[in-house]
Amino acid sequence: MSIIFKNNTFYLSSDNTSYVIGIEDDKLSTYYWGKRIPEENIEYYTKNLYATWAFNKDLTPQEFPEYATGDYKNPVIEIELPDGSSVTDFRYKTHNIMKGKPDLPQLPHTYCNEDADADSLDIYLQDAVYDITAVIHYSVFKCGAITKSVTLCNGLETGIRINRIASASFDMFNDNYQIVSLHGAWSRERHFYKHQLQKGIYSFGSNRGTSSHNVNPFFALASQNADENHGDVYAFNMVYSGNFEAAVELNPWNVIRAQIGMNPFEFSWKLEKGESFNTPETVMVFSADGFNGMSGIYHSLYRNNLCRGKYKLSPRPILINNWEATYFDFDENKLMKIAEKAKSIGVELFVLDDGWFGKRNDDKSSLGDWQVNTEKLPSGLDGIASKLNSLGLKFGLWIEPEMISPDSKLYEEHPDWCLHVPQRERSQQRFQLVLDLSRREICDYITDAVSKILESANISYIKWDMNRYMTEVYSVSLPKDRQKEVSHRYVLGLYGIMERLTSRFPDILFEGCSGGGGRFDPGMLYYMPQIWTSDDTDAYERMHIQYGTSMVYPISTMGCHVSAVPNHQTGRTTPLKTRGEVSMSGNFGYELDLSKCSEDELKEMRRQIEFYKENRTLIQFGRYYRIMSPFESNYAIWQFVSEDKKESLVFAFKKLNETNKTAIRFRLLGLDGKYKYKMVQNGMVLSGEVLMNVGVVFPDNMGDYESCVMKFVAEN
Ligand code: DGJ
Repeated sequence: MSIIFKNNTFYLSSDNTSYVIGIEDDKLSTYYWGKRIPEENIEYYTKNLYATWAFNKDLTPQEFPEYATGDYKNPVIEIELPDGSSVTDFRYKTHNIMKGKPDLPQLPHTYCNEDADADSLDIYLQDAVYDITAVIHYSVFKCGAITKSVTLCNGLETGIRINRIASASFDMFNDNYQIVSLHGAWSRERHFYKHQLQKGIYSFGSNRGTSSHNVNPFFALASQNADENHGDVYAFNMVYSGNFEAAVELNPWNVIRAQIGMNPFEFSWKLEKGESFNTPETVMVFSADGFNGMSGIYHSLYRNNLCRGKYKLSPRPILINNWEATYFDFDENKLMKIAEKAKSIGVELFVLDDGWFGKRNDDKSSLGDWQVNTEKLPSGLDGIASKLNSLGLKFGLWIEPEMISPDSKLYEEHPDWCLHVPQRERSQQRFQLVLDLSRREICDYITDAVSKILESANISYIKWDMNRYMTEVYSVSLPKDRQKEVSHRYVLGLYGIMERLTSRFPDILFEGCSGGGGRFDPGMLYYMPQIWTSDDTDAYERMHIQYGTSMVYPISTMGCHVSAVPNHQTGRTTPLKTRGEVSMSGNFGYELDLSKCSEDELKEMRRQIEFYKENRTLIQFGRYYRIMSPFESNYAIWQFVSEDKKESLVFAFKKLNETNKTAIRFRLLGLDGKYKYKMVQNGMVLSGEVLMNVGVVFPDNMGDYESCVMKFVAEN
């Protein structure tokens, strides 16, 4: 890993990748991004391939594309200047190469554990007419990931207005690429989509206030032949939890511009004299080894250099959550019955979900009134926590602190604390409104209210929920010319609260949630190392959701629970074994009324928990490979391999049983070819070469939704 500057060219290299930027006539050209190339060869690019800068900017791959000077693709930036124009001409001034990686103020970001993890480069550009500076920040990590963000500084005596600003922009010639993205909706988040790139602009984004269930701030350009293990993939993932826009443009000359950044819809930011604006950062990954190669880099970076705190690399507890078991209808006795059964099968943490506070017996009231409901919990949070602790279980709690119910004491006291436009109706979703986190005093209230809860009992875990999108995005505390800043100010306010709470309570494991996986993004992972993947707990649906989510996000970030059948979301009945094995392919838990389960069911769960405990480190922190896609086949198959390659675990799931079909064979990945592996389930010993080239067979004597687990251990 290194950053070298010579002959007006920057070479950002890791072991396997190079990213090369040239300075031509004080402008920045993107020369190359891909497999590592030697630094000497770049003369070829500068002299021959891209000698067109002066001729046609539509043809020249640019690092910081601007507006209205002959390039008609989307610019990286559009600013309203004092003379009313938006024409800028940012030119190279200087640069700074550093060991390690500086922090990105107020925003979540990847970081170094030690300086040797990454090298960084800041390139300073200045507008030719006005004293406005743009700093492009790059870091190249050992694992090959490159991060990029932009800081815009106003050195003028007057204010300017940013109307559009991307976090990363990348130009390259098209090589018949396809676009990959993760789309979905509530209860079917992050499904894998791939389609051919066509002329014009393909764009998607969120204007819902959160990154959302519907889209994820991720896309990739993949070569035609790309599959899980082969082909070139260029991937982009923005470290942000609010509105964003991703756009890929293919122009008539076959030049691609790929961008991701602030969603310009309803966004603008006034930058006063001396102020600066930081964009969120984007993590860019190139893989010459298909999607598994891409995911390997994201997983390693996010586990080691994005997630923080005590739990980032610690085994996550196996939990029981009472939501699908009781919904709002519970009291301490009922909860303790579930807890006792949970303890008896080996569960480690009891999570009390929605409904423990105010008069919340359904979803129509009490958000904001964070006082315990003593009718349901006569001995309070402290009382139930102590009882659970005496039983040998840790205690976790659900909260939804960003919200306010119109039917609450908090709303009676502060009817103007929610996002709203005065005199207009306030649109409710799930009977609730969103607190205005662009206001400091409301952020302080939330921080204090949550701190009080956390100090009131021995709480080991928090599930931080957020169950609606934003409407009437307006703040009564801001002047009218700053209203388009509200959605970003909200996200900054939220990050500020989470920073304060996670540093004040370092021993608590925080899990993010937003009506399931509506805010599953790297921004949240900076504060909370795991997220509830989806409200859909059906095993069949989860094969797809977890497969798609794993494209970018490590297994240790995904909350996955076994629930009752028929499933509450789909009505489908799947075997308990399959439900267990799908769920143990993430951070494992249960979410059903264990006091109603039969002895046979409890016995099977006890077996699952024992198995998970034995393999927890391998699953949560091993190298993960996807083998067969549920989006393209009747199977979902994935595999975990330990760092030393001595242990591996395969989970294979069949969707529907098919008649008169040949059994399917699949090849294992990532083993050491020279090792001999014993398959624990049948004692057979096979070499890594055989397992990776000949493969193994899915035992095909089973019904719909069946699963199988294979464990391989290297013999000494
Ligand atoms: C949505 C979450 O995703 C569920 O798991 C549950 O916590 C409910 N909210 C509670 O209201």
